[in-house]
Amino acid sequence: MNFARGSLLLSSLLACGTFAGAQLQGNTIATTAKHEVPAIQDTETAAQRDARMAWWREARFGMFIHWGLYSIPAGTWDGKQVPGIGEWIMNRGSIPVADYKALAPKFNPTSFNAHDIVATAKAAGMKYIVITAKHHDGFAMFDSKANSFNIVAATPFKRDPMKELAEECRKQGLKLGFYYSQDQDWTAPGASAYKTGDHQPPDFHWDKAQDGDFDTYLHTKAIPQIKELLTNYGEFPVVVWFDTPTKNMSAERAAEVVALLNQRPNLIWNNRLGGGYKGDTETPEQFIPAQGYPGRDWEACMTINDTWGYKSYDTNFKSTETLLRNLIDIASKGGNYLLNVGPDSMGVIPTPEIARLQEVGAWVKVNGEAIYGTGPTSFGAEAGAFSATEKDKNGKAKFVPSWEWRSTTGKGKIYLEIFKWPSNGVFHLAKVTKTVTGAYLLADPQRKALKVTKVGDGVDVMLPGRAVDPVASVVVLKTQ
Ligand code: GLC
Repeated sequence: MNFARGSLLLSSLLACGTFAGAQLQGNTIATTAKHEVPAIQDTETAAQRDARMAWWREARFGMFIHWGLYSIPAGTWDGKQVPGIGEWIMNRGSIPVADYKALAPKFNPTSFNAHDIVATAKAAGMKYIVITAKHHDGFAMFDSKANSFNIVAATPFKRDPMKELAEECRKQGLKLGFYYSQDQDWTAPGASAYKTGDHQPPDFHWDKAQDGDFDTYLHTKAIPQIKELLTNYGEFPVVVWFDTPTKNMSAERAAEVVALLNQRPNLIWNNRLGGGYKGDTETPEQFIPAQGYPGRDWEACMTINDTWGYKSYDTNFKSTETLLRNLIDIASKGGNYLLNVGPDSMGVIPTPEIARLQEVGAWVKVNGEAIYGTGPTSFGAEAGAFSATEKDKNGKAKFVPSWEWRSTTGKGKIYLEIFKWPSNGVFHLAKVTKTVTGAYLLADPQRKALKVTKVGDGVDVMLPGRAVDPVASVVVLKTQ
């Protein structure tokens, strides 16, 4: 067998790393190894790649949905609150396979309404949805002939939410992607489990029923299910979102998955397949990288509270201001924002989450031009600076963000998203390399000209006395 040893080693190292609260940090698995089965990224030209990524780069904002059986316990098992993120309850609570599987007959989310979910995403200004088709608990949220532990065969609900979402996305003009946990599967014999608590090596299983052969799992469940997801939903999925590869996802095994992905040449997939494949997108999780990932497409996935899957008592919702600043910050660094919601066991997105999405949507409706299809800032220092004294948890200089303004760029335009309205009514840009020929507020339908004065290498823009938006007012500079 001649698959890349280096990448195998690298993925083993990743898998052995301490697993703090089930949060992955970016999980970049870059490698220079030649792949036995070349992936699309290995063979396409730069122009083909630009064409393939075009809609995704334009989109900038997507909805992540974590929804599954874990929405029933919603963070509590046997009367006790299980610490950590909601969808990890089975692992963190060492719940036996049979007990967890017994949730399926109780799952009847009759309030699930694909139309409403897609409409919510659309009204928030999101252009695509990525939903958990199967998370680490192994329960398929779609009609699967390959494995009966799924929402159609094992629940009284009997409907396929992926199909309903696909239809609605088609109708409402959004794109749909599927998250699929290809490696961890806590209810399938032989599949992987990340270590939490006192789970023991080599497999970190907590129930004999989890023991078995990984290749059997891969060939009888994961690969057949990925095939189903790639063939049963028309033009969707346009994204496949893998997660948490371990040493089990060797180059050789990952190549089997890649062979399937290659059958859909327009597919976009992330950097979490494993086996040394870089995929299309970097996936910083719960953080916004200080300077983006120059030369790579990237998508920051972040929760709206502190969990991905629904937890009844997690009410630590981020403010609309934080969500909007994140969206703008990410766009200004050339990335996408995949913002997560966690529907409850009836299939409904919690009201406080909807309320925030509506407020985000109201801003985007007015100011979307400064987000969609824009390029990153042509300045840079406005995002913040690396501290000379403070270190981050990796021992590197800590990035201290500044929240006064951000900038994005368009054709002949520089957008300034101003968070902190200057008290003297003048927005001073120290250095602009292009010639500024005019300025106006994006929220102003008349586009009344704001006075611009050249000052040294930069410009002063005269602003009205008060901010037009409490979170971010957008000034458009016309440039030559
Ligand atoms: C993590 C977690 C998972 C969540 C995902 C989202 O890796 O394992 O529960 O789905 O990140 O990025």
